[in-house]
Amino acid sequence: MLSCYTATQSTAIPIHTVNENDYRTWLSEQPTLQQKWLETTGFKVKPGSYCLLPNEQGALVAVVVAQADDLLWGYADLATRLPVGEYYFTQVDDNALFNRALAWGLECYRFAKYKKNETVFARLVLPNSIDSEHLETLVTSIYWLRDLINTPTQDMGPQQLAEVTQQLAMNYNAQYSEVVGDALITANFPAIHAVGRASAQLPRLLELRWGKKTDPKLALIGKGVCFDSGGLDIKTSSAMTLMKKDMGGAAHALALARMIMALGLPLQLQVLIPAVENAISGNAYRPGDVVSTRAGKTVEIGNTDAEGRVILADALSYAVESQPRWIIDFATLTGAARVALGTDVPALFSNDDAMATGIHHMSKTVNDLLWPMPLFQPYNKLIESPIADLNNAGNSPYAGAITAALFLQAFVPASIPWVHIDVMAWNVKARPGRPEGGEAMGLRALFEYLRAAL
Ligand code: BES
Ligand code: ZN
Ligand code: ZN
Repeated sequence: MLSCYTATQSTAIPIHTVNENDYRTWLSEQPTLQQKWLETTGFKVKPGSYCLLPNEQGALVAVVVAQADDLLWGYADLATRLPVGEYYFTQVDDNALFNRALAWGLECYRFAKYKKNETVFARLVLPNSIDSEHLETLVTSIYWLRDLINTPTQDMGPQQLAEVTQQLAMNYNAQYSEVVGDALITANFPAIHAVGRASAQLPRLLELRWGKKTDPKLALIGKGVCFDSGGLDIKTSSAMTLMKKDMGGAAHALALARMIMALGLPLQLQVLIPAVENAISGNAYRPGDVVSTRAGKTVEIGNTDAEGRVILADALSYAVESQPRWIIDFATLTGAARVALGTDVPALFSNDDAMATGIHHMSKTVNDLLWPMPLFQPYNKLIESPIADLNNAGNSPYAGAITAALFLQAFVPASIPWVHIDVMAWNVKARPGRPEGGEAMGLRALFEYLRAAL
């Protein structure tokens, strides 16, 4: 069990949730000392406030917390604000408790690879009625995803991302294979090679396969740009600062695969990660170059900083060859998606309306919002090229998230339900349960959607 949870209830301290309506009644039932204490400390029943209740010996005997508006994150900071010890929530049903426990666990994450962190957290009692395997799979998979994204490129280049993927495959008895460097040319992944060839670390296509041949096939694809300098169309320093996170899509695909394998969903998985560094050197791909793709379509490079869609094109084509039942890709693909929806809400595109609606609906249910955006076909005009089949950047300052999605759609036949998620994968500011840094966004929604659909 994770160190922020415990199974034993015997000596744990109760956390009572109160709301404005029943507070007076509740208060009248408490010992006089505690009534006085709540008055003395000026406890108010408003979201975010809580109070530690002592007995006559000064020992902590209970916690009272005001009912939160946010049923997921509303109680998360208790995990780091309460004195170290064991606690349990009173009077909550299992569904509410699952959410509070999830947020509690996600609050207790620290990235301690380079800076020792000895924080000890309060422990939450998980009663038997909670599906703790499900809970801990979500929490540990999200910890793992955050670690992958937070790790700087020096320790998370294409090669290390390959090692991590291979390790994941070993842990769950999955098959692992990869195509590396010039072998990408001979194996017909020219676009992945073009984007990644300028880096000191060779470009790769990572592949993990898992599951029973009789189960429906799901292809998961993640943008694995381990660092995005922009290439020759170099980014400004402020735009480059966070670009170790440009493999956030890969981290999402891998973490979703981990959840699926850990909980044994009846799926046949194919995980594909084109892993590259968008670097600059004498052999870097250039603006104006025409890159060929696995599908045979040619791509004029309007901007070397629109690299994600170029590598994803080859991964999508390869996935299509296995005729999966579904394809889902995750990518930190555009700044435009962040202009449209901000940092916290991933954009959801799909060629299958029912799937988009189902995922959107589930994302509200589990408080992990994604928002549908249109694959508006007339905007294909914006990514036309006079000399190639497509241009990777387009010639308009508008609709950047949509034109990127349309570019990807050019590599997916209408017959295969496909979902594209354009995600930030990073918390720009810490909030309860969501520390600053790498973050899973839309991941639980996708997992619960798949679990419910099967
Ligand atoms: N990785 C970036 C997109 C990105 C930037 C996502 C910041 C989240 C936060 C991507 O490779 C990129 O640079 N896209 C360009 C495309 C443009 C050149 C057509 C963009 O969005 O500006
Ligand atoms: Zn990028
Ligand atoms: Zn870029």
